[in-house]
Amino acid sequence: MNIAVLVSGRGSNLQAMIDSIENGYLKARISVVISDIENAYALLRAKKHGIEAVFVDPEKYSSKEFYEKQVLAVLKKHNAELILLAGYMKILGKTLLLAYKDRILNIHPALLPAFSGLHAQKQAFEHGVKVAGCTVHFVDETLDGGAIILQRCVEVKEDDTDETLADRILEQEHKIYPEAVKLFVENRLRIEGRKVKILRS
Ligand code: GRF
Repeated sequence: MNIAVLVSGRGSNLQAMIDSIENGYLKARISVVISDIENAYALLRAKKHGIEAVFVDPEKYSSKEFYEKQVLAVLKKHNAELILLAGYMKILGKTLLLAYKDRILNIHPALLPAFSGLHAQKQAFEHGVKVAGCTVHFVDETLDGGAIILQRCVEVKEDDTDETLADRILEQEHKIYPEAVKLFVENRLRIEGRKVKILRS
């Protein structure tokens, strides 16, 4: 399966995916990495591994629709069958959502539906939760509201700061995102309303 990864930043989740492919855990191929930020470190990570890395400049397009049409052209050119959002900071519009319905996944650093949106780890920390975690979900037109595939929780410790908590969550992100992608690639996910059924291998 050809996977496209959309990024905006450091790309540690992209790296986890690359590593999972290179060590044989994930039988798939990343055919392209696309960024809306020119100097995103994630683009360098892709290049280091011989993966096509493309910057699509949002400033060149007058609307989200035109921007996404360009992204779509890049996706088609690289025969992408699945899109992974990995720290991609743009909210998807109809163009991509319709073209890749039920074929877009995202990783979110909180136990959804709690703490959607930006700085989720900080939101959770400041709320005083005793367990935090991360979620892999399908992407739909809602903000972080699509059907949930996998979640993992981590303990919040007495001496945590929002940063130490974010690091503990990130470690788990790097595990569950490849796990969820593996389930997708193996065609073991069935969306039933709000629920995602996981078929046995
Ligand atoms: C991660 O915390 C992810 O959950 C969120 O954005 C961050 C991206 O980090 N969606 P990275 O670029 O993968 O290192």
